[in-house]
Amino acid sequence: MFSPASLLAPLRQAARHAAILASLAAVAAAAYAHGDVTPQAVDTHELPALGEPWRTTNPYRGNDIATRIGTSAFNQNCARCHGLEAISGGIAPDLRRLDNECASLKDERKKQMCVNEMDEFYLTTIRHGRTRNGAVYMPPFEGIFNQEAMWAIKAYLESRREKPL
Ligand code: HEC
Repeated sequence: MFSPASLLAPLRQAARHAAILASLAAVAAAAYAHGDVTPQAVDTHELPALGEPWRTTNPYRGNDIATRIGTSAFNQNCARCHGLEAISGGIAPDLRRLDNECASLKDERKKQMCVNEMDEFYLTTIRHGRTRNGAVYMPPFEGIFNQEAMWAIKAYLESRREKPL
């Protein structure tokens, strides 16, 4: 049904999003300027080593040890923006929703392809971070975490999915 309110909703949401990101960029810039945000090292020796080439899909899906390591790695390094237990307070995307679109797919093969694509999207984001118009919205983690740590965090996020697959 036509309603002006429903037409305006996305616009309002976009405006709110822009405002949130602008204030976040200021916070992030201040934090970096003061140099008081030290990434916490992640001990991954309990996990099977992955070697050099970047994996394109999560080798630790459903791995309990990876999920445990990913839980503390997330809480120490990501939660200040993405929220404790991955419940976003609004300043950065809620990562429990990463695979939501995949969960709604009926076809099992398409669902798997979708999850694999999200793995690549996830890895690119965590490796390179997010910078827009010169402002750092999210710092890069390449060179700080090995890929074992990055995939362990993804395993944790998969255990926190809003819509289980
Ligand atoms: C300084 C704050 C900050 C930290 C720390 C941070 N992020 Fe982010 N992250 C953001 C913001 C803000 C965005 C959205 C950026 C944008 O809209 O371009 C984002 C986007 C993402 C996305 C893409 C989500 C989407 O739906 O587009 C992923 C995945 C992600 N972050 C994972 C992580 C992980 C994993 C960590 C910890 C290793 C982390 N982030 C640490 C602020 C942060």
